[in-house]
Amino acid sequence: PASDPTLLERARVAKEKLGDRLFILGHHYQRDEVIQFADVTGDSFKLAQQAAARPEAEYIVFCGVHFMAESADILTTADQKVVLPDLAAGCSMADMATASQVDQCWADLEASGVADDVLPMTYMNSSAAIKAFVGRHDGVVCTSSNAKRALDWAYERKGKVLFLPDQHLGRNTVVREMGFDLDDCVLYNPFKPNGGLTERELRDAKIILWRGHCSVHGRFTLDCVEEMRRKDPEVNILVHPECKHEVVEAADYVGSTEYIIRALADAEPGSSWAVGTELNLVRRLANEHPDKNISFLDRTVCYCSTMNRIDLPHLVWALEELVEGRVPNVISVEPGEAAAARKALDRMLALP
Ligand code: 13P
Ligand code: SF4
Repeated sequence: PASDPTLLERARVAKEKLGDRLFILGHHYQRDEVIQFADVTGDSFKLAQQAAARPEAEYIVFCGVHFMAESADILTTADQKVVLPDLAAGCSMADMATASQVDQCWADLEASGVADDVLPMTYMNSSAAIKAFVGRHDGVVCTSSNAKRALDWAYERKGKVLFLPDQHLGRNTVVREMGFDLDDCVLYNPFKPNGGLTERELRDAKIILWRGHCSVHGRFTLDCVEEMRRKDPEVNILVHPECKHEVVEAADYVGSTEYIIRALADAEPGSSWAVGTELNLVRRLANEHPDKNISFLDRTVCYCSTMNRIDLPHLVWALEELVEGRVPNVISVEPGEAAAARKALDRMLALP
């Protein structure tokens, strides 16, 4: 349990013993019991930037989910080992685009005669194999904090973009921030022949969205927004762009986890906020800002269950294994795949 003083002490002791050989990264959705041990906390963009910040550290313990640990492995040196304290910490959205599905999609685009005009790009929340596919086709990775810049970059190059795997981030960004119409986007369903689209739809679309989503952010509905506004007409609705388009359209502010943290830090004392993102983060922010009225946008409890798999017992286990000279749960991307994925990640990191 979170309050177990023995575990807290064991984590402190192991961390101290490992000293500079250890670098712990923690995503904002992690539990409080874990995030307190992170050397750096951040959203997925900041953590990708920070992964390479400590080349002298032998071990990067990644408190987050699998695709983030893969990206850290790609961005660090060959000698550094990336450890994910629980291998079951995946991401259901990342699992919604497999390499063979994306290969099939590309074959469909080729058969429709449009592949040469399409630039593929992927949200960070995807496997290394998908990032490698994108890298091999001159595309770019994005996160929720730079999706507009990456989409601008991609659209300028080809005038047609395949956006993987989060349909909501793609749609919300092009419609809200880039002035596209909903009709400029089509939805590619990997479970249907030709994605469920006609050749003409593929030819005419400016943005081809992949049919993936985040099940955590998908829980927020227009009803939640309306109920909050009925209860408190002054409330500010602040949501993550992984939420559905209608929710994002009805919100007052939209942005990545880092944006949400900054918005609440800058908010006026006494102001009211209903926040649509993962619950560990919303609860932490409510505790950090007792002078502001911060609540969760959904009526029910909604953690990211895979982020939550990294708990204090798993962290302590991983750190104590490292102290004993064993390196558990290493996340290692095959070098050829890593090199291709790195191209797409580097393009993102070099965006203006
Ligand atoms: P950001 O860290 O980019 O805000 O993304 C949220 C998320 O869902 C991470 O899995
Ligand atoms: Fe994946 Fe959603 Fe969890 Fe983020 S919050 S790790 S997108 S399931």
